[in-house]
Amino acid sequence: MKQKVLVTMIAVLALGLLASCAKSSDALVVATDAAFPPFEMIDEETKEIVGFDIDLMNAIAEKADLDIVFQNVAWDPLLAGMADCQYDMAISGMTITPARAEQFSFSDPYINAGQIVTVQADNTTINGPEDLVGLTVGAQIGTTGAMEIEAIADTTLKIYDTYELAFLDLANGQVDAVVADYPTAVAFVSNTAANLKVVGDVFTDEGYGVAFCLGNTELIDQVNAAIAELQAEGFIDELVAKWYN
Ligand code: ARG
Repeated sequence: MKQKVLVTMIAVLALGLLASCAKSSDALVVATDAAFPPFEMIDEETKEIVGFDIDLMNAIAEKADLDIVFQNVAWDPLLAGMADCQYDMAISGMTITPARAEQFSFSDPYINAGQIVTVQADNTTINGPEDLVGLTVGAQIGTTGAMEIEAIADTTLKIYDTYELAFLDLANGQVDAVVADYPTAVAFVSNTAANLKVVGDVFTDEGYGVAFCLGNTELIDQVNAAIAELQAEGFIDELVAKWYN
């Protein structure tokens, strides 16, 4: 009887070992919120995830010899999921912030961006963030844009699951302005039929990083080395030329 239990235990252990081996050869899951042009979006014809970040992550994976698979995850659950190590990595136009860096790890910045105000094209009273006091301003939930709006006294923040919805509401006159990352604001201004314009200067200084489940230093080192090489080779500049409006 005892022997039978032992055999069963060994069999279970062996199976577990096999399963964990199989898992480690699986592709690394890279989360992205594919509603943030020009960094990640769904191609209307092919229905595939495309964009600056997708090209960059594929190039990083090639250099670092990583097997990756993209998973489209909404922004808010993406942030929570990264803190929970539900995904191995995330690339999503994500600003490196001290608060986030407590919950997950970041690569070195691969590009800089900053916030800008977008309004309806015929608006003459809003010329920058200083004119947003007392107004209703839209942004995607949990973004640095939303945080900037919250920091302005007397401004009402209207939050959306995606920036797409925020710009739609702006076009329909439901909010006075939207605060968003400059390349994304320009993409929505040029790609949507609505008459919108960006105003004033970019008013924050932000760096985008690849996010990792906390403390995965070996993977982070590999990705950083790949980013440095791609930067030196001019590949990031090529992506800017290819994807920025
Ligand atoms: N850069 C901003 C942030 O990190 C916005 C990023 C939103 N990205 C996205 N894929 N929706 O908060």
